Amino acid sequence: MLVLGIESSCDETSAAVVEDGRSVRSLVVASQSEVHAQFHGVVPEVASRAHVEQILPVVRQALNDAGIRCASDLDGIAVTNRPGLSGSLAVGVTFAKGYVVATGLPFVAVDHMAAHGWAVQLAAPQEPPLEFPYLVLLVSGGHTILAVSRDAGHLEVLGTTIDDACGEAYDKVSTFLGCGYPGGPAIDRLAARGNPRAFSFPRSRLEGPRRSPYDVSYSGLKTAVVHQLDRFLNPGCESTRENVAASFQHTAISMLVERVERAMEDTGILRVAAGGGVASNTLLRQSLAEVQERHRGARVIVPPPELCIDNGAMVAGLGGVLLARGERSPLDVEAFARVSQFRRGTPA
Ligand code: KG4
Ligand code: ZN
Repeated sequence: MLVLGIESSCDETSAAVVEDGRSVRSLVVASQSEVHAQFHGVVPEVASRAHVEQILPVVRQALNDAGIRCASDLDGIAVTNRPGLSGSLAVGVTFAKGYVVATGLPFVAVDHMAAHGWAVQLAAPQEPPLEFPYLVLLVSGGHTILAVSRDAGHLEVLGTTIDDACGEAYDKVSTFLGCGYPGGPAIDRLAARGNPRAFSFPRSRLEGPRRSPYDVSYSGLKTAVVHQLDRFLNPGCESTRENVAASFQHTAISMLVERVERAMEDTGILRVAAGGGVASNTLLRQSLAEVQERHRGARVIVPPPELCIDNGAMVAGLGGVLLARGERSPLDVEAFARVSQFRRGTPA
């Protein structure tokens, strides 16, 4: 089954063709980071306009690269319709609907975070799939979620961030250090030259009846870096940008890894996947590889960075599995900016 997947939920316009849910035949990503860099973050209106410009050439390129000559070579279309920026989602969803009206192909709208959770299955299509259920750590600019996935497209949320997302904290610290946007890759590079023990930044400790032990908070860490740096400097250490980046990264990532290990112990599920832009982080990848070594029988898979960031392949892959099961979306399907279970305090 060959499915075209379209992704436009934030600042990447992407399209891909994936075979049988796992084999990536083509993947094209047009990133808007340079456009948004001057504003130190994604400007929704600018993002929507850029999607309008990019979507047709990106889809054409993806079809071409996969050797698709006419729509009848495809078996279906999948598009991200939630969560994300409303205007950005609307471009992809409307484009996909137009394509479906013109071609009559089967159509399914998919959840962006569930698609990130499926990306692990695209990493090595020649190998057996990561068996369900698996734990999935989804870390991006908008979300920080630890979930159990019991089936394709299914996420049972164990914990989320109660304030900033991990990627958002990276972006804010990067702006503070003058490293630009997107902050994750810049901080990751800077941290490689710093001492992770130079500062002892506070970790989120969330207690109380309404908190999950898997929830995290990044606003305290961000405030400590941006407003209270000197308070956390260890004696004999220097306050350099490299040391700030390394200590921030050490704290931000170990909060995630601790929760993954706790969930492995609590649930007994030893299969773990990661996804989202922050999953391309060097320290997170290394730490998750160490988690696999520490737990006998564990299988921890982090997809390559191009499948961690927003991409159409994860959408085409998950869409292919849902379509093969007979799932279809109506042509009046809407775009939703928020999905209530993914963020604490979001109205349902
Ligand atoms: O999943 P994604 O591409 O888009 C969203 O759905 O948000 O994630 C983007 C986020 C940004 O906050 C970016 O700074 C972060 O992922 N990121 C990283 C790295 N590469 C991207 N964070 C830490 N280390 C990285 N190497
Ligand atoms: Zn994403």
